[in-house]
Amino acid sequence: MSILKEEKEQKIFFELNALREDDKQNLDEYFLAYSIQATLDGMRWLNTDELILDYGCGLGDSIEMYRLANNSYPSSLIGVDIAKNAISKIEKKYAYNFYQITENKIPMLQDGIVSSVYMINVLHHTTTRNQIFCEVLRVLKPGGKFLIIDITDKNLFIEFGRKIFMYVPGYIKKQFSKDLIIENTIPEKLPVDPDTIVGDLISAGYEIERVGRHSLFFFVFDWFEKILKLEISKGKYKNIYKPILWLENFLLRYKIFQNRSAILSIWVKKPNLHEK
Ligand SMILES: C[S@@+](CC[C@H](N)C(=O)[O-])C[C@H]1O[C@@H](n2cnc3c(N)ncnc32)[C@H](O)[C@@H]1O
Repeated sequence: MSILKEEKEQKIFFELNALREDDKQNLDEYFLAYSIQATLDGMRWLNTDELILDYGCGLGDSIEMYRLANNSYPSSLIGVDIAKNAISKIEKKYAYNFYQITENKIPMLQDGIVSSVYMINVLHHTTTRNQIFCEVLRVLKPGGKFLIIDITDKNLFIEFGRKIFMYVPGYIKKQFSKDLIIENTIPEKLPVDPDTIVGDLISAGYEIERVGRHSLFFFVFDWFEKILKLEISKGKYKNIYKPILWLENFLLRYKIFQNRSAILSIWVKKPNLHEK
């Protein structure tokens, strides 16, 4: 598929998606901390007073992640996205510059002027990641950092949930956040294979700092809460998370389970040739 055709299809969803009302999920702190841990760790790694690029900024949830992780908003930030509606909305929320972009190009940024880049949950919406990787490398300073967080296509619980979603009763569907659902279905996501992505980053010229595989059971917790309406994370059942998370951490030491993790985090740097 051509880059423009794919972009057009994604745009249809995200233009609509940007118009939704904010429906922040009412998650308990413990549960929330579990689900966003990898993003927060990455945002702490990126922390800088210099210019940050938010690639695929959407409505700004990632900016809030940065604030949560570092206890302050970025000093200087530029956000880019394919969806015009997202840009119009986020501009009203934050005093940074935001731009609608196309074909994975960021012409408003000169070479080597960005210190840190993050791209959260964008990879599973594009097959043109190699162009993004090259463009990000171009705008990064030598030694600059690039954080990628995304959802893989390897977690069996998530894949099973997607397959049966259209058959679940409406009252359960309604409990899923509106940014996930469109016309009662969860839109297809494009495959995110961690090993291929790491290979592509190396070929593009990045140095790998860290590759993390996280979350085997997040999805199961999420469905339990929604279907059984137990509010496990908030009430007296809260303690059941602890042994399950212990088990998850234990299992994730092994490659066979790492390969099934739901969330991928990658920390890479643009090589600093003067340091060698
Ligand atoms: C799931 S949202 C994530 C938004 C935000 N990063 C966050 O974490 O809340 C994905 C965003 O990526 C944008 N997007 C998808 N493909 C893109 C591309 N090739 N270039 C720039 N933005 C893209 C979409 O318009 C959407 O706003």
